[in-house]
Amino acid sequence: MHHVPENQWYVIALTREITDGLLARTVCGHDIVCYRVPDGRVVALRDRCPHRRYPLSRGRLEGESLVCGYHGFSFDCEGRCISVPGQELVPPRSDVATYPIVEQGMWTWVWIGDRSPGAIRPPATPWIAGDPHWSAVTGMAPIDCRFELLVDNLLDLSHETYLHRANIGTPEVAATPVHTRIDRENSSVLLSRHMEGVECPPFYARTTGLASPIDRWQDIEYFAPSYYQLNVRIAPAGRPPDVSGADPDAFHLKILYGLTPSSADRTYDFWAVCRDFSLDDEEVSATLDAMQQKIVIEDVDALNILERRIAQDTDGTEAVAGIDRGALAARRMIAALTGAKGDAEFEIDAEGIVRARP
Ligand code: FES
Ligand SMILES: [Fe+2]
Repeated sequence: MHHVPENQWYVIALTREITDGLLARTVCGHDIVCYRVPDGRVVALRDRCPHRRYPLSRGRLEGESLVCGYHGFSFDCEGRCISVPGQELVPPRSDVATYPIVEQGMWTWVWIGDRSPGAIRPPATPWIAGDPHWSAVTGMAPIDCRFELLVDNLLDLSHETYLHRANIGTPEVAATPVHTRIDRENSSVLLSRHMEGVECPPFYARTTGLASPIDRWQDIEYFAPSYYQLNVRIAPAGRPPDVSGADPDAFHLKILYGLTPSSADRTYDFWAVCRDFSLDDEEVSATLDAMQQKIVIEDVDALNILERRIAQDTDGTEAVAGIDRGALAARRMIAALTGAKGDAEFEIDAEGIVRARP
């Protein structure tokens, strides 16, 4: 796969998906099989039998061993071939590569790259990993589109007003300018849109009980390439946090995305909606889950269509608007991480202003 940064953590699965069954996933073009062994550990192996290349995900588990479904070679958790039917010795070159895995609450991450992760950990996500002040729902949608299109989508939420009109989009989202900050050191893009005295969309009205007008803040942190966090603050209009930072009148949500490139034209869209209110209220969980799934499907439909269009498009030009700052910055960061050349026609200065390249 081109233009996908390696030596990075990517979400490979919702933790609840990893059981004693065999789960096949393709991450950055790597075919991987993952499963949980009886002592609870998660194992991730290259999904390719060294014998005749049959997918190991079509085999079966026998205790800790994975047995190939074609001729029965067996592999242990370290990918070592431990037995071959009908002979005493295992042949050379019959081991399988393993992938580093970190389980972090509701999401499980895989390290893709030729270097060891060493001390590098996946981004911290305490809100889906046991923080008692937060409650969360999570899911995943595969999209038949290149990874960059999901990055574009998430970094420009002005599309909420048009694509997600029924649930979350109100006219003010697209109408309110966004402040963009670029943190090259941490490969992150920060986008902030604070709306004051605006309409309360159903997504928040139905789950918080608030009615219009509200103050609605969207503060995005995108850490290229694979992690995105939208910090949401919703409060009755005119009740900002006090000077100490306490914010008793507000409801807070964190909408997390794990962006995982699969193949050149396929992407996994992992999401989680975390909240600091009504923590044990199953109905609020169910409502947020259902509304978020609707929103994600709207994005999936749009991106599936876009991918087909772009694949056939011979023109190649795109108009650039102010709302594209974040997405352009993200493209350039991803390009820098892959060592590829950045966006050829535009660049972004320190203030986040898009300029045509001289
Ligand atoms: S292909 Fe796996 S044992 Fe032959
Ligand atoms: Fe969207």
